[in-house]
Amino acid sequence: MTDWEKSAWRSKPRVQMPDYTDPAALAEVERQLGKYPPLVFAGEAIRLKNELGKAARGEAFLLQGGDCAESFTDFSADGIRDTFKVMLQMAMVLTFGAKVPVVKVGRMAGQFAKPRSAPTETVDGIELPSYRGDIINELGFTSEARIPSPQKMLQAYTQSAATVNLLRAFSTGGLADVHQVHGWTLGFTASDEAEKYRAMAERIQDTLDFMKAAGVTSETAHSLASVDFYTSHEALLLEYEEALTRLDATTGKTVAGSGHMIWIGDRTRQPDGAHVEFCRGVINPVGLKCGPTTTAEDLKVLMGKLNPENEAGRLTLIARFGAGNVGDHLPRLVQAVKEEGANVVWSCDPMHGNTIKSASGYKTRPFDAVLKEVQDFFAVHQAEGTIPGGVHFEMTGADVTECTGGVRAVTDENLSDRYHTACDPRLNASQSLELAFLVAEELSALRQPQAARKAS
Ligand code: PEP
Ligand code: CO
Repeated sequence: MTDWEKSAWRSKPRVQMPDYTDPAALAEVERQLGKYPPLVFAGEAIRLKNELGKAARGEAFLLQGGDCAESFTDFSADGIRDTFKVMLQMAMVLTFGAKVPVVKVGRMAGQFAKPRSAPTETVDGIELPSYRGDIINELGFTSEARIPSPQKMLQAYTQSAATVNLLRAFSTGGLADVHQVHGWTLGFTASDEAEKYRAMAERIQDTLDFMKAAGVTSETAHSLASVDFYTSHEALLLEYEEALTRLDATTGKTVAGSGHMIWIGDRTRQPDGAHVEFCRGVINPVGLKCGPTTTAEDLKVLMGKLNPENEAGRLTLIARFGAGNVGDHLPRLVQAVKEEGANVVWSCDPMHGNTIKSASGYKTRPFDAVLKEVQDFFAVHQAEGTIPGGVHFEMTGADVTECTGGVRAVTDENLSDRYHTACDPRLNASQSLELAFLVAEELSALRQPQAARKAS
């Protein structure tokens, strides 16, 4: 892009970013990060863009998920492995149930910076700046912990590099081989969903046995032995993003080296703001959260800025309106996209419009509301004749109790048992699987309407 520079966002209005107090320390961190290797490469980002182009056309489906916020203290290989396994299970449910290739994108290896609804937080009469994610400040409720520190970017980079490394190993090193389909279940997921998954895995195993007899194995068909797994995060902390931006020698294009896909949050999508200015110039696939206040006019301007060449796969619109509100907002945005003839992936984030405070005081999300928003999303696309291209979840492989409901019902009283999130409440493994089965049903009904009608 000729009218763009990676630092041009600095002259635009910015929101949700920290005011660092020591400019020299900040500059030193940016200098160091600028010398470090990028975490992802242009060819990979372009490959993901092609895959998302298929999702835009209904030839593939995007599954994006992971932590609300990654954390320095909860970082572990087991944690990454378990979330990766749950995503593989969900992807398998979708691939097998809806007969559609699944594009797998983790909210991982860079999902550290958080926008907040209020700049400060008050506890027992004490007011302190809000926690903004481990890349910026600390969760502890002391004034010291809440001071933004640029050095945290270096730790976030290191953790992201280790995470990407592990994800690459998991993707190609055997764990993701489809013959491991039984091995992706986690010990504690003894639920109806886990049973349903086991039954499906049996059928897949049968198919694989048949294919083996016919001469098709992981050795002869390499695509059975590995998966493509991509990383993504909200591009919120622009000093970090700019420092990892690179000019790719092979393509001559500018790529955000911090993750394969980046997205713009619902609070930072001002058409003339810093975040849109940064994202418009990199070649990565870009996500844009669309909430109840997104107007059709803004969306048109944003599509023009973020995807001027109308490339399929470049732009994913992530709808997050809340259960019961989808019908009030999604149709006008779908209409705007139609009027522009824009190529987009429509994805559904059924998490961020459904956050409530439980009676016990915890921030939670009722599983029924999450399910309902997904159903509403599919219903609107069916009515409009447009393509539901993906889903976006906050989830974890850990056996947490953060969202209420689900088959293995988590109640308000249970929330305190294993409430570990540093930010928003996540679906646990069995809730994630339950949701995947629902999405697979919705998708296959849409893709094979005759078959579904006959069956019901
Ligand atoms: C998020 O995805 O964690 C987030 C903050 O979402 P939104 O911008 O949609 O509120
Ligand atoms: Co969140």
